[in-house]
Amino acid sequence: MRSFAGRDILSLKELERNEFFHIFDVAAELEPIATDRQNVDLLSDKTLLTAFYQPSTRTRLAHEAAMHRLGGHVLGFADPKMTRAGDFYQESIKDTVHMLEYYADVIVMRHFQQGAPHEAAKWSSVPVINAGDGWGEHPTQVLTDLYTVLREVGTIDGLTFLAIGDHRMRTMHSLGYALTQFDSEMIMVSPPEMVPTDEFKAELDAKNLRFKEAGDVRDVIGEADVIYMEPVVQPDYTRSRQEKADDYGLTAPEYKVTRDLLKTKARRDAIILHSLPRMDELPADVDDTHHARYWQEAFNGVVMRMALLALVLGAME
Ligand code: CP
Repeated sequence: MRSFAGRDILSLKELERNEFFHIFDVAAELEPIATDRQNVDLLSDKTLLTAFYQPSTRTRLAHEAAMHRLGGHVLGFADPKMTRAGDFYQESIKDTVHMLEYYADVIVMRHFQQGAPHEAAKWSSVPVINAGDGWGEHPTQVLTDLYTVLREVGTIDGLTFLAIGDHRMRTMHSLGYALTQFDSEMIMVSPPEMVPTDEFKAELDAKNLRFKEAGDVRDVIGEADVIYMEPVVQPDYTRSRQEKADDYGLTAPEYKVTRDLLKTKARRDAIILHSLPRMDELPADVDDTHHARYWQEAFNGVVMRMALLALVLGAME
């Protein structure tokens, strides 16, 4: 297996099956540190830089929390308006990264332009981790999600993933690419204007992933082992920031998972993942059903970033 030391984490297209399992093993090894709320000194000689050109609660803070748990140092920006990339100069990714690489040993980047972290990686001598690029991909989120499935269900192989939401969304892309490495099936439910692209479906098909599309969650929820949710009411991910409009609309029943639907149509052992934030597609009264795993998923977000930082910084092999 290729070493992770010094590697960029840009896309789940690049990962092979044994590499997924290796990351999960390292995460499981480090998990007790987070469970026990300890800070250790594994990365005490390393520095993380978070370069976030789009808003984030979980992804940036989970990476920062992970670095603190491993004893490392953290710096960065959460709002590009306070940098020269976000003012009059509109400094390029190339020039910005030529600065940032001197300030840290790993860069975690979120950007509204698809491919921006890939561009950064071309100019960076330190590893770059993609924290979400436009509609492109969100690899660390989906690694977190699959680690959660493995911990909660005991396997990823043999499961049917029902992915409900906007299929232009970066998490959906990373999920599809990841599932090509497992014996899993994917059912995609979305409004007509948010269906997966033909190009994306061709990529999944070329790698033998079994998938199908459906128009209404109520018709297919009974087939799902994992109910994977994203909003259909959401901002444009190609913009740096979008405020909530007054008339943002509500989620139609075709794309909602309610307590009643779970009781009447879902498998008793189906679990729900949601990368969050949510709108009304997942009502808060689902939180105390035995199906909900999204808070465990949130905890695992720190564990997974600990594993990835330890691996790309060469502290774990
Ligand atoms: N799940 C996720 O990416 O959340 P943030 O946008 O808060 O980072």
